[in-house]
Amino acid sequence: MDVDAYLAHRMAALHEETAQIKDPRVFDFAYVPEQPLPRDEAKPIIDAFLKYAQTGVPQNLVVLGSRGCGKTLLLRYLQRLLRERLGLEILYANCRNHNTTFKLLAEFLGASLRGTSLQELYGRFEARFPGRTVVILDEVDLISKKDPNKDILYFLSRSERAYMVVCLSNNPRLLSELDTSIRSSLQADSLYLKNYDARQVQEILALRAAAGLHAWREEDLARIAALTVQRTNADVRVAIKTLFYAVTGEGKSVQEAFEHAQRDITIDLVADLNDRNLLILRAVQRTKERFVKRVFQSYEQLSREVGEASFSYVYFLNNLSYMQSLGLVLLVQTKVNRSYTSTVSLLFNEQVLETIYRLRFG
Ligand SMILES: Nc1ncnc2c1ncn2[C@@H]1O[C@H](COP(=O)(O)OP(=O)(O)OP(=O)(O)O)[C@@H](O)[C@H]1O
Ligand SMILES: [Mg+2]
Repeated sequence: MDVDAYLAHRMAALHEETAQIKDPRVFDFAYVPEQPLPRDEAKPIIDAFLKYAQTGVPQNLVVLGSRGCGKTLLLRYLQRLLRERLGLEILYANCRNHNTTFKLLAEFLGASLRGTSLQELYGRFEARFPGRTVVILDEVDLISKKDPNKDILYFLSRSERAYMVVCLSNNPRLLSELDTSIRSSLQADSLYLKNYDARQVQEILALRAAAGLHAWREEDLARIAALTVQRTNADVRVAIKTLFYAVTGEGKSVQEAFEHAQRDITIDLVADLNDRNLLILRAVQRTKERFVKRVFQSYEQLSREVGEASFSYVYFLNNLSYMQSLGLVLLVQTKVNRSYTSTVSLLFNEQVLETIYRLRFG
């Protein structure tokens, strides 16, 4: 092989693929735009921050909404905006990356505090943040099973410092799954962020395109927005990734770019699931007639085969609805012999499941 010729060829190709990109940062999922697309649901959240800043009385919040509906972006944006305007301390952490009370507090204190007791950490946190402080806990349902009582919620809501807590989650049952005593000390209001409609997704794409691209076609944005809303539960991440692939030529058409983006995102999502949820998906796949009860039986059977403790039926249903909020499955009511029953379908390519399942369970 002629290395020089090959390199020259690849560089020219790469140059062409990226020529349309003015600012690649806008395709990073963690990017917070200067001006996100406004949404009315921000108002009660802003009001709660305002009231806390003025009176010191916290109104804790639980912000729910399906995957990719803009929860993280909204709160990170408000953090940036309101910190200065309201003079509040606003802390943010994602429980995916800091999944115990200990790790979260160490993150807020900005230190590795191995060997310190939790009690000491509470003391240090209160000393460090004596004033009005909002703590945003993103993906709060990912706090580890090793911290079953989610002690941080207890600590923050009971502290004499009257901290305000904002929990984000895509699990609609988050509050009902919390321990009653935590729920009653939190006294949180829940807010639900609706999925964007196709017009809003298109506007978000147009904002990204204007910030990050030299040229684009409005009709492509409309097509991407329509596909995203119809086929993914309006996950804006898929839309943004599709736009990226569409301009860099991964996939010949918008449709192919969309499929590519969806596959990438599904792989991340399925790979992040815990073992029991992965077993549930596998059970769906293995069950011929996918009535929920049948799937449950096959899930129990499968758990025995791989030596995992299985969920109770109620937990199983909760986890199915969690995976529905992730856009992985769909529960549909159907009528069988005059009574209603639910069936489950998988919303993604089964090959992805096959591969990840084998990696995990052999
Ligand atoms: N109003 C908006 N304006 C501009 N971009 C947006 C808006 N809402 C969402 N986005 C973008 O869509 C993507 C998904 O949003 P985000 O990460 O906030 O979703 P999420 O609800 O936190 O999802 P998850 O439940 O998976 O954590 C991000 O890249 C975000 O920047
Ligand atoms: Mg998020």
